[in-house]
Amino acid sequence: MGDFLEMRKITKLFGDNIVLKDVDFSVNKGQVHALVGENGAGKSTLMKILAGVHVANSGEIYIDGNRVEINNPKEAQELGISMIYQETRLFPDLNVAENIFIRREPLKNKGGLRLIDWDKVYSETAKYLDYFGLKINAKASVNTLSLGQQKFVEIIRALSRNARIIIMDEPTAAFTEQEIELLFNVIQDMKKLGIAIIYISHRLNEVKRIAEKVTVLRDGEVIETYEVSDVDLHKIIKAMAGKEICDRYPKLKIRHGKELLRVNNLSYEGRIRNISFSLKEGEILGITGLSGSGRRTLAKVLFGINRPYEGEIMLNGRIFKDMDTNKAIENGLCYVTGIGTDEGLILNAPVTENITIANLKRISKFGFLNKEEEVLKAKDLIERLEIGANAYDIASNLSGGNQKKVIFAKWLFTNAKVLIIDEPTAGIDVSSKVDIYNIMNELLLSGASIMMISSDFSEILGMCDRILVMYNGEISKVFEKGEATQEKILYYASGGRDSV
Ligand SMILES: Nc1ncnc2c1ncn2[C@@H]1O[C@H](COP(=O)(O)OP(=O)(O)OP(=O)(O)O)[C@@H](O)[C@H]1O
Ligand SMILES: [Mg+2]
Repeated sequence: MGDFLEMRKITKLFGDNIVLKDVDFSVNKGQVHALVGENGAGKSTLMKILAGVHVANSGEIYIDGNRVEINNPKEAQELGISMIYQETRLFPDLNVAENIFIRREPLKNKGGLRLIDWDKVYSETAKYLDYFGLKINAKASVNTLSLGQQKFVEIIRALSRNARIIIMDEPTAAFTEQEIELLFNVIQDMKKLGIAIIYISHRLNEVKRIAEKVTVLRDGEVIETYEVSDVDLHKIIKAMAGKEICDRYPKLKIRHGKELLRVNNLSYEGRIRNISFSLKEGEILGITGLSGSGRRTLAKVLFGINRPYEGEIMLNGRIFKDMDTNKAIENGLCYVTGIGTDEGLILNAPVTENITIANLKRISKFGFLNKEEEVLKAKDLIERLEIGANAYDIASNLSGGNQKKVIFAKWLFTNAKVLIIDEPTAGIDVSSKVDIYNIMNELLLSGASIMMISSDFSEILGMCDRILVMYNGEISKVFEKGEATQEKILYYASGGRDSV
């Protein structure tokens, strides 16, 4: 008996680069089949073939035992295949309902005319939002939503097309713990409806929780398909990497030097209140919390995006009452973002330009850009970060994880002293995560300091010297190294308080 959906012997080349070799992959109704593998393994490409974005060079696809041809996204949709892409694909200026119903708006008859039934568009959208428990206005323009909320709009769009097969490519990369729970509940409902779900994630504990089967891809080949119930994480990681990974959090003991950043009583529009802390050379400070806790607002105040603010920012020995982005960069502060979106990258430019853009001074003389120098410097970073790309590759052709590394390289190139890093390893595979942590170690050894915003509590526990937990715009707890546990962090992140 074959599975509901079967992909057989799929091979795909980009130019002469073979990215998928004879891949067999199948999934059953009412099941979650996870697809895992390191950055660049070919996960997104395989699924884009199913969604009609790419066409395979060879191989066959069967649904319910019948051979199907999928030559474009429309054909995939007609077969009931819906994909939620790794990078957000919404129309930023359209509102939530318009994004969900675009190009298939319900119609009504009026005076002999077929018109878009806007009442229905909004009431259907409201129904979905309500079912998801999302407090979002159907008429809000999507660029006012958080990354997590935007992802839910995409999920609703996929669901509302009555899909039989739903592909989720790294859906939780920008999610908070709460949003993950919400998604998992929805997935349980989809399973009951008999929908087949393909779930790509680097978060293996999620795979353990929701998937029945997991297939490991490495360098475009299937290494193994396991029943989730009888495989442990260790085995999956080993299959992904092809080697043992010993130390997942290579935290070094580094002596802390002078204070680089101090924040006194910082408040902004009631979204953060009375935040005070300091950061020293060689130190990693973790900032964690749940959705809406104000972590990202804090980062944006420090980087001069959210202004004006109350309170003081002391940076590079100077007090700033009106930080802006230029001053921040000039004084050695940078904000590394870009999870789950193309934010932070120029997608149609080559890797090299993306790396050097924030510090062109470093490769210019008398106002002229030294192109050779630029490429050399970029190549050096590509090697150090083990970015799976060439200097001249266009950013949009890179795998999601490699794009993330390019964003990292860009800020390394500026020689910043205080790095605010927002979700440094979301969407990054286990062994590349270790590379990123080692890069952080290198930065700390060279006298920089890092403020790491992360929703991944084990990463926070594994890498930070101190941990600030935020709740509702305030610091609800400060942990010194060794004091915190996952449970304690969750307690303060959910509004728990020290009993007096
Ligand atoms: N449109 C494209 N043109 C050329 N090469 C591409 C294109 N899309 C992907 N690739 C290459 O195909 C390989 C597989 O990429 P893919 O995006 O499928 O990886 P992935 O497993 O999804 O990785 P990640 O976990 O980082 O998202 C990579 O080497 C990538 O650079
Ligand atoms: Mg991918």
